[in-house]
Amino acid sequence: MGCSSLEPAQTADFRCVQCGELLEAVYPAWQQNGGKQRPLNPSALKKAWLQRRTSLDPLDQSGVWRFRELLPILSDLRHAVILAEGNTPLYRLQQSARQSGVDQLYVKHLGMNPTGSFKDTGMTTVISKARELGVKWVACASTGNTSSSMAAYAARAGLKCLVLVPQDKISVGKLSQTLEYGAIVCQLPTDFDGCLQILSQVVQQASIYLVNSANPYRLEGQKTAAIEMLEQLGWNVPDHVIVPGGNLGNSSAIGKALLELHELGFIPHLPKVSVIQAEGSRALVRTMQETKGESLVSVKAETLATAIRIGSPVSWRKAVNVLRATGGACEYVTEQEIAAAKAQIGAEGIGCEPASAVTLAGLYNLRKQGFVKPRETVVLMLTGHVLKDADYSIRFHSGQLLPEASEAMKLFCNPPIKAEANPKAVIEVLERFTNEKAGALA
Ligand code: F0G
Repeated sequence: MGCSSLEPAQTADFRCVQCGELLEAVYPAWQQNGGKQRPLNPSALKKAWLQRRTSLDPLDQSGVWRFRELLPILSDLRHAVILAEGNTPLYRLQQSARQSGVDQLYVKHLGMNPTGSFKDTGMTTVISKARELGVKWVACASTGNTSSSMAAYAARAGLKCLVLVPQDKISVGKLSQTLEYGAIVCQLPTDFDGCLQILSQVVQQASIYLVNSANPYRLEGQKTAAIEMLEQLGWNVPDHVIVPGGNLGNSSAIGKALLELHELGFIPHLPKVSVIQAEGSRALVRTMQETKGESLVSVKAETLATAIRIGSPVSWRKAVNVLRATGGACEYVTEQEIAAAKAQIGAEGIGCEPASAVTLAGLYNLRKQGFVKPRETVVLMLTGHVLKDADYSIRFHSGQLLPEASEAMKLFCNPPIKAEANPKAVIEVLERFTNEKAGALA
């Protein structure tokens, strides 16, 4: 990413030996014809990718590997470690569309992956690569989703795995999932950034393969979220794609996919890819504002959306390139805005974890600024399942999440009701809510 030299991905921390920046997968064969003759046939591939969904071969059924022509990273596809990842739904949001004032609002729900987050699409590629390379141990630092996903795929591949997590700063659901799949979990008295820093030293000293998003093979798999989104829209390019930003691997991967698809002639133009962060973890926002994207401004991260409690994002330079190439915006949202947006997505019968809800909260702000216009089509990337952080939802609906609730939060607050154990008491509750509803409609 720094000096553009072509190197095999050999260093333990996936940084270039020349310039120290991250590596990125490039495919020189795609550029060989100088754009005159297409190296891949877009219309034939679009058909083939869709057809593979009806195949009985697990490789074809995978929502990652059915796009294998755009991620040619394995020498032998028999190394692929598959858990039926990808093929996640694209839902239309009606109420949120009306309220935010856009005609066409969709969510691509990557939380519907096998371990409940978008990480699975990149984990299938990186763990497959690890198996092909013959490594014994894999490792990651995590706020809980990467670790859950890595643990599951490592278990399937028969690899041992080590996880570093910030102690008491990841959700119980994610910790339990990571333990269940058999990872060795170290809880460290530091934050995610501290865990990642320690791990980058560990991988230099021990024979263990890093699978954080610094590893470019992760991002190759994560590209498929964008490919699949376009397929689901009939290859009509939306105006905006809005992605949550933490360590910035996902926004980089989605941007990379779109740029490649454009370059290869699959789409006629690019959507704007915008990145939204939590106020207390807005390293990229500050980087753009204070240095115009030239050097990283790290922050001491704080947010209840623990998945994106990250202050020193590794892939910041890749994300800056995506913002520049697509003309996307980079914004932050407050804790109250995140909480209200999450509950609103829940109230539409979809649901997501807090980090995903920054996208809808961000959309409201981008609409206010006029960056997103009423007639435009918007896709929000929801990255994690609603059950990933049940504690957050319970605290929200019990009115205990934040010291002060905004009007929007109050609108969606739905506390559980304690009633006596008899039909009369339950009918009273029913009547109270029937009258309330009638009152609201009158
Ligand atoms: N949403 C969710 C649900 C996440 O778990 C993460 C990152 C992000 C968004 C941000 O994505 O880092 O690619 O910008 N979770 C990582 C983890 C850090 O360890 O699970 P990003």
